[in-house]
Amino acid sequence: MDRFSLDTRVALVTGAGSGIGRATSLELARAGARVVAADSDLPATVETVELICGDGGRALAVEADVTDVSAVDTMVDAAVTEFGSLDIAVNCAGMTSPPLGILGTTPEDWRRLIEVNLTSVFLCMRAEVPHMLEAGRGSIVNIASGAGLVGANLLPAYTASKHGVVGLTKSVALELAPRGVRVNCICPGATRTPMLEGFLSGNELMEQLMVSGHPIGRLGTPEEIADAVRWVCSDAASFVVGAAITIDGGAIAQ
Ligand SMILES: NC(=O)c1ccc[n+]([C@@H]2O[C@H](COP(=O)([O-])OP(=O)(O)OC[C@H]3O[C@@H](n4cnc5c(N)ncnc54)[C@H](O)[C@@H]3O)[C@@H](O)[C@H]2O)c1
Repeated sequence: MDRFSLDTRVALVTGAGSGIGRATSLELARAGARVVAADSDLPATVETVELICGDGGRALAVEADVTDVSAVDTMVDAAVTEFGSLDIAVNCAGMTSPPLGILGTTPEDWRRLIEVNLTSVFLCMRAEVPHMLEAGRGSIVNIASGAGLVGANLLPAYTASKHGVVGLTKSVALELAPRGVRVNCICPGATRTPMLEGFLSGNELMEQLMVSGHPIGRLGTPEEIADAVRWVCSDAASFVVGAAITIDGGAIAQ
């Protein structure tokens, strides 16, 4: 048995319409999983599913806002109804904000970012976990950030939300490990996705500064993050529990 294979597994990926979520959906499908691709942007999600099916994989597109409790429950139910189980969940949907610092961040900005990046991960796990406990196995991968481990200057809400994802991951990992469900998070460094391009908005100086924070001398690709997610989801990572894994060209090692 190939311990890296995801054959027979059903995987749910949120934020599947773009960037890391799309690359992860494609990679999990390549590894043999049937993929439920979920995002608030339905046309983009359908595009992801078309890419998977064009590659010979099986996938379902689901429109879901991960901040909406009933939409999250419906999303998870749709996965189980379509494919019969839920073995893997990658909670990837998220947003960033402009680098406005503590005084430029309004209470509304703060609440929205915490809701989209942190509360959503709680809501998703709450809906995903019962199906995994019923099966006695499962792997959950939350997409945090390097900003979940160290402070990102001028991004107080983003940093707090991602530190929250790391802490939430560790707590739920402790609770579920004895029951066969592994919970981990991946902490990407700066990765070239539509989110990052939007954040940089063509500012070459800011991009150079960002690159210089990564000892490898470049930004990451969504595919490099997806490769790590695939491994953590697989039986090849069977002893990996409660980990916050940096995939960041050495950024956090400094
Ligand atoms: N790109 C980076 O440099 C980087 C670095 C570290 C961590 N991350 C994290 O990786 C994850 C993916 O980021 P990305 O760079 O691929 O971004 P992206 O903007 O390319 O993709 C994010 C996806 O999430 C979806 N989304 C946003 N809010 C949603 C909601 N409420 N409900 C459902 N879907 C929603 C968007 O529609 C989009 O398709 C995020 O959690 C982000 O914080 C990204």
